[in-house]
Amino acid sequence: MSSVTALRCRNCGEEYEVKPVSICEECFGPLEVEYDIEAVKEKVNKKTIEKGPKSLWRYKDLLPVGNRIVDLNPGFTPLHKADNLAEELGLKALYIKNDSVNPTFSFKDRVVAVSVSKALDFGFDTIACASTGNLANSVAAHAAKGKLNCYIFIPADLNLGKILQTLAYEPNLISVEGNYDDVNRLCTEVAGYYNWAFVNINLRPYYSEGSKTLGYEVAEQLGWRTPDRAIIPVGSGSLLTKIWKGYNEFLELGLVDEVNTRITAAQSEGCSPIVTAYRSGSDIKPVKPNTIEKSLAIGNPADGYYALRVINKSGGGAMASSDQEIIDGIKLLAKTEGIFTETAGGVVVAALKKLVEQGEMDKDEETVIYITGNGLKTQEVLIDHLPTPAKISPDLKEFDKLLSSKIKKEAVPWQP
Ligand SMILES: Cc1ncc(COP(=O)(O)O)c(C=O)c1O
Ligand SMILES: [Zn+2]
Repeated sequence: MSSVTALRCRNCGEEYEVKPVSICEECFGPLEVEYDIEAVKEKVNKKTIEKGPKSLWRYKDLLPVGNRIVDLNPGFTPLHKADNLAEELGLKALYIKNDSVNPTFSFKDRVVAVSVSKALDFGFDTIACASTGNLANSVAAHAAKGKLNCYIFIPADLNLGKILQTLAYEPNLISVEGNYDDVNRLCTEVAGYYNWAFVNINLRPYYSEGSKTLGYEVAEQLGWRTPDRAIIPVGSGSLLTKIWKGYNEFLELGLVDEVNTRITAAQSEGCSPIVTAYRSGSDIKPVKPNTIEKSLAIGNPADGYYALRVINKSGGGAMASSDQEIIDGIKLLAKTEGIFTETAGGVVVAALKKLVEQGEMDKDEETVIYITGNGLKTQEVLIDHLPTPAKISPDLKEFDKLLSSKIKKEAVPWQP
Protein backbone atom coordinates (compact mmCIF):
# COMPACT_ATOMS: atom_id res chain seq x y z
CA MET A 1 0.00 0.00 0.00
CA SER A 2 1.36 3.39 -1.01
CA SER A 3 1.52 6.12 1.66
CA VAL A 4 0.54 8.80 -0.86
CA THR A 5 -2.59 10.65 0.24
CA ALA A 6 -3.10 13.48 -2.25
CA LEU A 7 -1.56 16.07 -4.53
CA ARG A 8 -1.22 19.58 -3.08
CA CYS A 9 -0.53 22.93 -4.73
CA ARG A 10 2.88 24.26 -3.65
CA ASN A 11 1.56 27.78 -4.08
CA CYS A 12 -1.97 28.01 -2.62
CA GLY A 13 -2.28 24.67 -0.79
CA GLU A 14 -5.35 23.43 -2.71
CA GLU A 15 -5.69 19.64 -2.50
CA TYR A 16 -6.24 17.28 -5.48
CA GLU A 17 -6.86 13.56 -5.74
CA VAL A 18 -4.01 11.38 -7.04
CA LYS A 19 -4.39 11.59 -10.82
CA PRO A 20 -2.28 12.59 -13.85
CA VAL A 21 -2.31 16.37 -13.34
CA SER A 22 0.48 18.79 -12.48
CA ILE A 23 -0.97 22.33 -12.35
CA CYS A 24 -3.37 23.86 -9.82
CA GLU A 25 -6.68 24.91 -11.38
CA GLU A 26 -7.01 27.77 -8.88
CA CYS A 27 -3.63 29.51 -9.22
CA PHE A 28 -1.62 27.58 -11.88
CA GLY A 29 0.93 26.63 -9.20
CA PRO A 30 2.77 23.27 -9.43
CA LEU A 31 1.28 20.25 -7.62
CA GLU A 32 3.36 18.08 -5.32
CA VAL A 33 2.77 14.58 -3.92
CA GLU A 34 1.74 14.40 -0.27
CA TYR A 35 2.34 11.40 2.01
CA ASP A 36 0.95 10.12 5.28
CA ILE A 37 4.27 10.62 7.04
CA GLU A 38 3.12 8.82 10.22
CA ALA A 39 2.31 5.73 8.12
CA VAL A 40 5.76 5.98 6.49
CA LYS A 41 7.40 6.19 9.94
CA GLU A 42 5.71 2.90 10.89
CA LYS A 43 7.25 1.15 7.89
CA VAL A 44 10.63 2.80 7.31
CA ASN A 45 13.79 2.88 9.42
CA LYS A 46 17.54 2.55 8.80
CA LYS A 47 17.39 -1.25 9.02
CA THR A 48 14.48 -1.68 6.59
CA ILE A 49 16.24 0.57 4.08
CA GLU A 50 19.61 -1.18 4.47
CA LYS A 51 17.93 -4.53 3.85
CA GLY A 52 16.29 -3.27 0.64
CA PRO A 53 17.42 -3.79 -2.96
CA LYS A 54 20.61 -2.10 -4.16
CA SER A 55 18.61 0.31 -6.31
CA LEU A 56 16.35 3.30 -5.69
CA TRP A 57 13.56 0.83 -4.84
CA ARG A 58 15.11 0.56 -1.37
CA TYR A 59 13.19 3.85 -0.82
CA LYS A 60 9.94 2.58 -2.43
CA ASP A 61 7.81 3.44 0.61
CA LEU A 62 8.84 7.08 0.13
CA LEU A 63 7.96 7.15 -3.58
CA PRO A 64 4.58 7.60 -5.34
CA VAL A 65 4.43 4.19 -7.03
CA GLY A 66 2.11 1.20 -6.76
CA ASN A 67 2.90 -2.46 -7.34
CA ARG A 68 3.56 -2.31 -11.07
CA ILE A 69 7.12 -1.21 -11.73
CA VAL A 70 9.25 -0.87 -14.85
CA ASP A 71 12.64 -1.84 -13.50
CA LEU A 72 16.01 -1.24 -15.14
CA ASN A 73 17.60 -1.30 -11.68
CA PRO A 74 18.40 2.43 -11.37
CA GLY A 75 20.07 4.20 -8.49
CA PHE A 76 22.29 3.21 -5.56
CA THR A 77 25.21 4.54 -7.56
CA PRO A 78 28.67 4.99 -5.98
CA LEU A 79 29.68 7.83 -3.70
CA HIS A 80 33.44 8.22 -4.25
CA LYS A 81 35.85 9.92 -1.87
CA ALA A 82 37.59 12.28 -4.29
CA ASP A 83 40.97 12.70 -2.59
CA ASN A 84 42.90 13.61 -5.76
CA LEU A 85 40.54 16.39 -6.81
CA ALA A 86 40.31 17.56 -3.19
CA GLU A 87 44.11 17.82 -3.03
CA GLU A 88 44.23 19.69 -6.34
CA LEU A 89 41.76 22.29 -5.02
CA GLY A 90 42.99 22.32 -1.42
CA LEU A 91 39.77 20.88 0.02
CA LYS A 92 39.46 18.87 3.22
CA ALA A 93 36.73 16.37 2.24
CA LEU A 94 35.20 15.99 -1.19
CA TYR A 95 32.84 13.31 -2.50
CA ILE A 96 31.53 12.57 -5.97
CA LYS A 97 28.04 11.14 -6.32
CA ASN A 98 28.61 9.35 -9.61
CA ASP A 99 25.13 9.08 -11.10
CA SER A 100 26.54 8.73 -14.60
CA VAL A 101 26.60 4.95 -14.16
CA ASN A 102 22.82 4.51 -14.16
CA PRO A 103 21.20 2.15 -16.73
CA THR A 104 20.96 4.84 -19.42
CA PHE A 105 23.94 6.76 -18.02
CA SER A 106 22.29 9.71 -16.30
CA PHE A 107 20.28 10.51 -13.15
CA LYS A 108 17.14 10.74 -15.31
CA ASP A 109 16.61 7.00 -14.77
CA ARG A 110 15.45 7.94 -11.27
CA VAL A 111 12.66 10.29 -12.34
CA VAL A 112 11.66 8.05 -15.25
CA ALA A 113 11.54 4.86 -13.16
CA VAL A 114 9.06 6.54 -10.83
CA SER A 115 6.93 8.31 -13.45
CA VAL A 116 6.71 5.42 -15.92
CA SER A 117 5.77 3.04 -13.11
CA LYS A 118 3.08 5.52 -12.07
CA ALA A 119 1.93 5.74 -15.70
CA LEU A 120 1.33 1.97 -15.64
CA ASP A 121 -0.61 2.38 -12.41
CA PHE A 122 -2.83 5.00 -14.07
CA GLY A 123 -3.41 2.62 -17.01
CA PHE A 124 -1.55 4.56 -19.76
CA ASP A 125 -0.23 2.63 -22.75
CA THR A 126 1.79 5.53 -24.20
CA ILE A 127 4.54 7.54 -22.54
CA ALA A 128 6.12 10.74 -23.82
CA CYS A 129 8.43 13.59 -22.86
CA ALA A 130 10.03 16.88 -23.83
CA SER A 131 13.76 16.40 -23.38
CA THR A 132 17.18 18.03 -23.45
CA GLY A 133 18.63 14.57 -24.21
CA ASN A 134 19.15 12.47 -21.10
CA LEU A 135 15.44 12.22 -20.41
CA ALA A 136 14.91 11.05 -24.00
CA ASN A 137 17.41 8.22 -23.47
CA SER A 138 15.76 7.11 -20.27
CA VAL A 139 12.12 7.37 -21.37
CA ALA A 140 12.88 5.43 -24.57
CA ALA A 141 14.66 2.68 -22.60
CA HIS A 142 11.84 2.37 -20.06
CA ALA A 143 9.24 2.28 -22.84
CA ALA A 144 11.16 -0.61 -24.43
CA LYS A 145 11.37 -2.53 -21.15
CA GLY A 146 7.73 -1.81 -20.24
CA LYS A 147 6.44 -2.56 -23.79
CA LEU A 148 4.84 0.87 -24.00
CA ASN A 149 4.31 3.18 -26.96
CA CYS A 150 6.67 6.12 -26.84
CA TYR A 151 6.86 9.64 -28.26
CA ILE A 152 9.91 11.77 -27.58
CA PHE A 153 10.34 15.43 -28.50
CA ILE A 154 13.81 17.01 -28.58
CA PRO A 155 15.34 20.27 -29.82
CA ALA A 156 16.99 19.72 -33.22
CA ASP A 157 20.51 20.77 -32.13
CA LEU A 158 21.05 18.02 -29.54
CA ASN A 159 24.32 16.09 -29.02
CA LEU A 160 24.66 13.25 -31.55
CA GLY A 161 25.38 10.64 -28.87
CA LYS A 162 22.07 11.34 -27.16
CA ILE A 163 20.12 11.14 -30.44
CA LEU A 164 21.75 7.83 -31.44
CA GLN A 165 21.26 6.28 -28.01
CA THR A 166 17.58 7.28 -28.05
CA LEU A 167 17.04 5.85 -31.54
CA ALA A 168 18.56 2.53 -30.53
CA TYR A 169 15.57 1.88 -28.22
CA GLU A 170 13.23 2.52 -31.21
CA PRO A 171 10.77 5.11 -29.87
CA ASN A 172 9.01 7.67 -32.08
CA LEU A 173 11.56 10.47 -31.97
CA ILE A 174 10.49 13.95 -33.06
CA SER A 175 13.17 16.57 -33.59
CA VAL A 176 11.68 20.07 -33.26
CA GLU A 177 13.18 23.15 -34.90
CA GLY A 178 13.57 25.29 -31.81
CA ASN A 179 15.10 25.28 -28.33
CA TYR A 180 13.93 23.26 -25.31
CA ASP A 181 11.45 25.93 -24.25
CA ASP A 182 9.81 25.73 -27.70
CA VAL A 183 9.71 21.92 -27.44
CA ASN A 184 8.18 22.10 -23.96
CA ARG A 185 5.50 24.54 -25.13
CA LEU A 186 4.57 22.23 -28.02
CA CYS A 187 4.46 19.21 -25.71
CA THR A 188 2.14 21.00 -23.27
CA GLU A 189 -0.26 21.48 -26.22
CA VAL A 190 0.14 17.86 -27.38
CA ALA A 191 -0.51 16.65 -23.82
CA GLY A 192 -3.82 18.51 -23.91
CA TYR A 193 -4.94 16.63 -27.06
CA TYR A 194 -3.68 13.08 -26.56
CA ASN A 195 -4.24 10.80 -23.62
CA TRP A 196 -0.53 10.12 -23.09
CA ALA A 197 1.62 10.13 -19.99
CA PHE A 198 4.08 12.98 -20.55
CA VAL A 199 6.46 12.13 -17.73
CA ASN A 200 7.65 15.71 -17.17
CA ILE A 201 4.32 17.44 -17.94
CA ASN A 202 1.09 15.81 -16.72
CA LEU A 203 3.03 13.29 -14.57
CA ARG A 204 5.49 15.89 -13.27
CA PRO A 205 4.52 15.59 -9.56
CA TYR A 206 5.45 11.87 -9.64
CA TYR A 207 8.45 12.31 -11.95
CA SER A 208 10.11 14.93 -9.77
CA GLU A 209 9.84 12.74 -6.65
CA GLY A 210 12.38 10.36 -8.23
CA SER A 211 15.10 12.98 -7.72
CA LYS A 212 14.63 12.84 -3.93
CA THR A 213 16.51 9.55 -3.99
CA LEU A 214 19.70 11.45 -4.85
CA GLY A 215 19.27 13.18 -1.49
CA TYR A 216 18.45 9.96 0.37
CA GLU A 217 21.35 7.98 -1.10
CA VAL A 218 24.02 10.52 -0.31
CA ALA A 219 22.76 10.79 3.28
CA GLU A 220 22.73 7.00 3.66
CA GLN A 221 26.16 6.56 2.02
CA LEU A 222 27.72 9.23 4.26
CA GLY A 223 26.57 7.19 7.28
CA TRP A 224 23.12 8.76 7.84
CA ARG A 225 24.07 12.43 7.67
CA THR A 226 24.03 15.15 5.04
CA PRO A 227 27.12 17.06 3.77
CA ASP A 228 28.04 20.67 4.56
CA ARG A 229 27.62 21.58 0.90
CA ALA A 230 26.05 19.99 -2.19
CA ILE A 231 26.81 21.30 -5.68
CA ILE A 232 24.05 20.42 -8.13
CA PRO A 233 23.62 20.98 -11.89
CA VAL A 234 20.45 22.94 -12.61
CA GLY A 235 18.16 22.98 -15.65
CA SER A 236 14.48 23.25 -14.67
CA GLY A 237 15.47 23.39 -10.96
CA SER A 238 13.57 20.23 -10.08
CA LEU A 239 16.60 18.09 -9.18
CA LEU A 240 17.98 20.74 -6.81
CA THR A 241 14.70 21.28 -4.94
CA LYS A 242 14.14 17.54 -4.60
CA ILE A 243 17.62 16.76 -3.24
CA TRP A 244 16.85 19.31 -0.51
CA LYS A 245 13.43 17.70 0.02
CA GLY A 246 15.12 14.28 0.30
CA TYR A 247 17.53 15.50 3.00
CA ASN A 248 14.66 17.09 4.93
CA GLU A 249 12.38 14.06 4.69
CA PHE A 250 15.17 11.99 6.24
CA LEU A 251 15.29 14.57 9.05
CA GLU A 252 11.52 14.32 9.55
CA LEU A 253 11.78 10.53 9.68
CA GLY A 254 14.60 10.73 12.24
CA LEU A 255 17.08 9.08 9.82
CA VAL A 256 19.51 12.03 10.06
CA ASP A 257 19.95 14.30 13.09
CA GLU A 258 20.24 17.63 11.29
CA VAL A 259 20.39 19.22 7.85
CA ASN A 260 22.88 22.07 7.49
CA THR A 261 23.68 21.58 3.83
CA ARG A 262 24.41 24.63 1.69
CA ILE A 263 22.59 23.86 -1.55
CA THR A 264 24.57 25.29 -4.45
CA ALA A 265 23.42 25.60 -8.07
CA ALA A 266 25.70 25.17 -11.08
CA GLN A 267 24.77 26.39 -14.58
CA SER A 268 26.55 27.44 -17.77
CA GLU A 269 27.04 31.14 -18.49
CA GLY A 270 25.16 30.59 -21.77
CA CYS A 271 22.00 29.61 -19.86
CA SER A 272 22.03 30.75 -16.25
CA PRO A 273 18.63 32.24 -15.34
CA ILE A 274 18.74 30.80 -11.80
CA VAL A 275 22.36 31.70 -11.03
CA THR A 276 21.84 35.23 -12.39
CA ALA A 277 18.69 35.72 -10.30
CA TYR A 278 20.48 34.49 -7.17
CA ARG A 279 23.57 36.62 -7.67
CA SER A 280 21.67 39.78 -8.59
CA GLY A 281 18.95 39.28 -5.96
CA SER A 282 16.25 39.61 -8.61
CA ASP A 283 13.42 37.42 -9.92
CA ILE A 284 14.13 34.81 -12.60
CA LYS A 285 14.18 36.30 -16.08
CA PRO A 286 13.88 33.78 -18.97
CA VAL A 287 16.86 33.65 -21.37
CA LYS A 288 17.64 32.19 -24.82
CA PRO A 289 20.31 29.49 -24.31
CA ASN A 290 23.61 29.77 -26.19
CA THR A 291 26.12 27.21 -24.92
CA ILE A 292 27.77 23.84 -25.58
CA GLU A 293 25.98 22.65 -22.42
CA LYS A 294 22.69 21.26 -23.81
CA SER A 295 21.43 19.12 -20.87
CA LEU A 296 20.80 22.16 -18.69
CA ALA A 297 19.75 24.52 -21.50
CA ILE A 298 16.34 25.49 -20.14
CA GLY A 299 15.85 29.23 -20.52
CA ASN A 300 12.55 29.36 -18.65
CA PRO A 301 12.97 26.95 -15.72
CA ALA A 302 9.68 25.46 -14.45
CA ASP A 303 10.94 25.08 -10.87
CA GLY A 304 13.26 28.09 -10.90
CA TYR A 305 11.37 30.03 -8.24
CA TYR A 306 11.44 27.07 -5.83
CA ALA A 307 15.11 26.32 -6.58
CA LEU A 308 16.00 29.93 -5.75
CA ARG A 309 14.10 29.66 -2.47
CA VAL A 310 16.02 26.50 -1.50
CA ILE A 311 19.40 28.09 -2.33
CA ASN A 312 18.57 31.12 -0.18
CA LYS A 313 16.99 29.17 2.68
CA SER A 314 19.91 26.73 2.92
CA GLY A 315 22.53 29.51 2.89
CA GLY A 316 23.91 28.02 -0.32
CA GLY A 317 25.24 29.63 -3.46
CA ALA A 318 25.24 29.61 -7.24
CA MET A 319 27.91 29.73 -9.93
CA ALA A 320 27.87 29.92 -13.73
CA SER A 321 30.80 28.85 -15.91
CA SER A 322 31.90 29.55 -19.47
CA ASP A 323 32.06 26.87 -22.17
CA GLN A 324 35.87 26.72 -21.82
CA GLU A 325 35.60 26.32 -18.04
CA ILE A 326 33.08 23.49 -18.57
CA ILE A 327 35.48 21.66 -20.89
CA ASP A 328 38.32 22.19 -18.41
CA GLY A 329 36.00 20.83 -15.69
CA ILE A 330 35.32 17.62 -17.67
CA LYS A 331 39.08 17.15 -18.20
CA LEU A 332 39.97 17.92 -14.57
CA LEU A 333 37.53 15.31 -13.24
CA ALA A 334 38.76 12.69 -15.73
CA LYS A 335 42.46 13.22 -15.01
CA THR A 336 42.16 13.46 -11.23
CA GLU A 337 39.43 10.95 -10.41
CA GLY A 338 39.09 8.71 -13.48
CA ILE A 339 35.46 9.71 -14.00
CA PHE A 340 34.39 10.83 -17.46
CA THR A 341 31.38 13.10 -17.30
CA GLU A 342 29.25 14.96 -19.82
CA THR A 343 28.91 18.73 -19.98
CA ALA A 344 26.51 18.91 -16.99
CA GLY A 345 29.26 17.37 -14.84
CA GLY A 346 31.79 19.80 -16.32
CA VAL A 347 29.51 22.61 -15.12
CA VAL A 348 29.59 21.20 -11.58
CA VAL A 349 33.37 20.73 -11.40
CA ALA A 350 33.88 24.21 -12.88
CA ALA A 351 31.51 25.69 -10.27
CA LEU A 352 33.36 23.92 -7.46
CA LYS A 353 36.73 25.20 -8.68
CA LYS A 354 35.49 28.78 -9.04
CA LEU A 355 33.74 28.82 -5.66
CA VAL A 356 36.99 27.72 -4.02
CA GLU A 357 39.23 30.09 -6.01
CA GLN A 358 36.93 33.06 -5.43
CA GLY A 359 36.68 32.33 -1.70
CA GLU A 360 32.93 31.72 -1.86
CA MET A 361 33.19 28.42 -0.01
CA ASP A 362 35.23 27.32 2.95
CA LYS A 363 37.91 24.73 2.15
CA ASP A 364 36.95 22.82 5.31
CA GLU A 365 33.37 22.20 4.19
CA GLU A 366 32.58 18.55 3.51
CA THR A 367 31.29 18.78 -0.04
CA VAL A 368 29.38 16.47 -2.37
CA ILE A 369 29.35 17.20 -6.08
CA TYR A 370 26.56 15.58 -8.07
CA ILE A 371 27.84 14.15 -11.37
CA THR A 372 24.62 13.33 -13.18
CA GLY A 373 25.55 12.32 -16.74
CA ASN A 374 28.15 10.29 -18.64
CA GLY A 375 30.94 11.68 -20.81
CA LEU A 376 30.24 9.27 -23.66
CA LYS A 377 27.06 11.25 -24.39
CA THR A 378 28.75 14.55 -25.29
CA GLN A 379 32.11 13.51 -26.72
CA GLU A 380 32.04 16.02 -29.56
CA VAL A 381 32.60 18.98 -27.22
CA LEU A 382 36.12 17.66 -26.53
CA ILE A 383 37.26 17.15 -30.12
CA ASP A 384 39.27 20.37 -30.39
CA HIS A 385 40.47 20.24 -26.80
CA LEU A 386 42.49 17.01 -26.61
CA PRO A 387 45.82 15.99 -28.20
CA THR A 388 45.86 13.55 -31.11
CA PRO A 389 47.40 10.19 -30.20
CA ALA A 390 50.96 9.44 -31.35
CA LYS A 391 50.89 7.20 -34.44
CA ILE A 392 53.51 4.54 -35.22
CA SER A 393 53.85 1.39 -37.31
CA PRO A 394 53.95 -1.90 -35.32
CA ASP A 395 57.71 -1.72 -34.89
CA LEU A 396 59.67 -1.71 -31.60
CA LYS A 397 62.38 0.57 -32.96
CA GLU A 398 59.81 3.11 -33.96
CA PHE A 399 58.26 2.94 -30.52
CA ASP A 400 61.70 3.35 -28.90
CA LYS A 401 62.30 6.41 -31.03
CA LEU A 402 58.94 7.87 -30.04
CA LEU A 403 59.55 7.15 -26.38
CA SER A 404 62.94 8.85 -26.33
CA SER A 405 61.86 11.84 -28.39
CA LYS A 406 58.24 12.58 -27.61
CA ILE A 407 56.65 10.84 -24.68
CA LYS A 408 59.13 10.57 -21.81
CA LYS A 409 62.70 11.71 -22.37
CA GLU A 410 63.84 10.09 -19.09
CA ALA A 411 62.53 6.58 -19.97
CA VAL A 412 65.32 3.97 -20.37
CA PRO A 413 64.73 1.23 -22.98
CA TRP A 414 64.65 -2.29 -21.55
CA GLN A 415 67.90 -4.26 -22.16
CA PRO A 416 67.70 -8.09 -22.40
C1 LIG B 1 22.73 15.35 -16.73
C2 LIG B 1 21.72 16.30 -16.16
N1 LIG B 1 21.96 16.84 -14.97
C3 LIG B 1 21.11 17.73 -14.41
C4 LIG B 1 19.93 18.11 -15.05
C5 LIG B 1 19.05 19.13 -14.39
O1 LIG B 1 17.84 18.63 -13.93
P1 LIG B 1 16.61 19.60 -13.64
O2 LIG B 1 15.99 19.92 -14.96
O3 LIG B 1 15.73 18.77 -12.77
O4 LIG B 1 17.14 20.82 -12.96
C6 LIG B 1 19.64 17.56 -16.31
C7 LIG B 1 18.41 17.94 -16.99
O5 LIG B 1 18.06 17.49 -18.05
C8 LIG B 1 20.55 16.63 -16.88
O6 LIG B 1 20.32 16.07 -18.08
ZN1 LIG C 1 -2.82 26.64 -6.31
